[in-house]
Formats: sequence, C-alpha cells, structure tokens
Amino acid sequence: MALVKLASAEDLKPNQMKAVEANGKKILLVNLNGTYYAIGNKCTHRGCMLSSGSLKGDTVQCGCHGAIFDAKTGNVVKGPAKEPEPKYEVKVENGQVMVSI
Ligand code: FES
Repeated sequence: MALVKLASAEDLKPNQMKAVEANGKKILLVNLNGTYYAIGNKCTHRGCMLSSGSLKGDTVQCGCHGAIFDAKTGNVVKGPAKEPEPKYEVKVENGQVMVSI
C-alpha cells in the first residue's frame, strides 16, 4: 500500500466528481459536501467511465445503462451492474487529496 496523490483539494468543488488515475487504476474522485471519496471509475457493468455519468446526491449514475453506485462505498444501488466498485481510502493533507493503493 502506498499513498498516491490524486489532486489538489481545491481542484474539486463540493458535489463535483473527477476522473483520476493512480498506479494504472482508473479512479473516480468525488467531493461530497467537502468530504472526499474515491471509488473505481470503470463501471462494473460494461466498463463505461462513471465520470461521464452524473452525480446525484451521494450516488453516481453511469451514463451508459443507468447503473447507480453509492459514491461513498462503491456499492450498487441500482442495476444493471451487479458488482460493487472498489473503494479506496482517501486522505487529505496539506491541501492534497491522496489515496492508499
Ligand atoms: S456500462 Fe455502466 S450501466 Fe452499463
């Protein structure tokens, strides 16, 4: 496990999401009311990028076939996706958002 910098905290306003990459993994970084969360960005249904979908409250909806994931946990809220997204631990230090990978 290593801490990898994803973004500057100021790059992402509250209730926005952003596609980032760390160690070759595609990650969706989400700012929910000032708290950052990171889950996998590649939809577990057919692989579309969740960053092209929409953030609705605490959930992210895939733009391809409408699967909904919990942005905090990566769990599936609504299919057609069946598998959850991986979830990464986020740490914010000195204005930098990092994940353990
Ligand atoms: S690829 Fe995301 S719902 Fe199908």
